Amino acid sequence: MFGGLMSKAVDMAVTIAGVNFRSPVIAASGTFGYGVEFEEIIHMEKIGAFVTKGLSREPMAGNNAPRIIETSAGMMNAIGLQNMGVRAFCEEKMPVLRRMQGAVVIANVFGFTKEDCVEVIRVLNDAPGIVMYELNASCPNTSHGGMVFGTDPDLLGELVYACKRASQRPLLVKLSPNVTSIGTMAKVAEAAGADAVSLVNTFVSMSIDVETRRPRIANVTGGLSGPAIKPIAVRMVHEVSKAVRIPVVGMGGIVRAEDVVEFMLAGATAVEVGTASYADPRAVEVISNGLRKWCGAHGVTDVRTLTGGMVR
Ligand SMILES: Cc1cc2nc3c(=O)[nH]c(=O)nc-3n(C[C@H](O)[C@H](O)[C@H](O)COP(=O)(O)O)c2cc1C
Repeated sequence: MFGGLMSKAVDMAVTIAGVNFRSPVIAASGTFGYGVEFEEIIHMEKIGAFVTKGLSREPMAGNNAPRIIETSAGMMNAIGLQNMGVRAFCEEKMPVLRRMQGAVVIANVFGFTKEDCVEVIRVLNDAPGIVMYELNASCPNTSHGGMVFGTDPDLLGELVYACKRASQRPLLVKLSPNVTSIGTMAKVAEAAGADAVSLVNTFVSMSIDVETRRPRIANVTGGLSGPAIKPIAVRMVHEVSKAVRIPVVGMGGIVRAEDVVEFMLAGATAVEVGTASYADPRAVEVISNGLRKWCGAHGVTDVRTLTGGMVR
């Protein structure tokens, strides 16, 4: 009988803002390059989608090294949003991605002013083959003295509103966890037109080498990711899923199928996998396959039934 359950087909499809994904497991921004690097490594049709590296109006060189270090149960990075710029991405990478079997592209967008973000979206609008945008709201707004968009409700609302107006595709707004109430920020994003929210981005953190007494990251502070942040991320996903009606995409420290189930039970419709790809470049596919097996072994025939399924 158990064998019968195991062999039952599992419907892995989920829908976010009208877009259908084959699996709820998506590769996270900044940990999957521009996608093209994974052509020989991953079967794209086995994962839900991937999110590109953050794209800005102009190319960016990023911060000085060291900019990635390992920590207990995680990693810290201060890459500084290095990227080739949105135009080069559309010209050089999108033609390759359009030819790649099964590749589902979500473009991650950021900028240092509202106008920057709108311009990136306008350029992307003209590129066929992108299913949605993920707006990274964890960037300092240079017109407001470096105040981070995602930590000020008024700035976040203005940014999301402007981007949604410019966007010809669904808009996923990626929230910063470095706030007092992430539920409030999610509500602001929803009210300003977000079609869905994703969370969490990395936590501001710091590490010092006690022998040299120097910061272990040249930028001094960096973003903490990986298993160390998972319980906080699960709590935030739960909080946000109670606060808004739009779909929630959860992430933070996912390394195995059970972690995905946990995020979905907390209220996520789909998840993203970041740091795990550094340990194993095939992680996203392995986790997506593992989720199918987990569902089969637990009599779950439709993965969507997991969302919000926590029992108290
Ligand atoms: C090296 C690195 C680079 C990242 N770059 C971006 C980025 O460009 N844009 C973005 O929205 N998030 C970026 N992130 C955040 C991840 O997409 C993700 O939100 C975070 O790492 C938490 O998930 P994880 O614990 O599975 O890594 C980056 C993370 C890492 C580790």
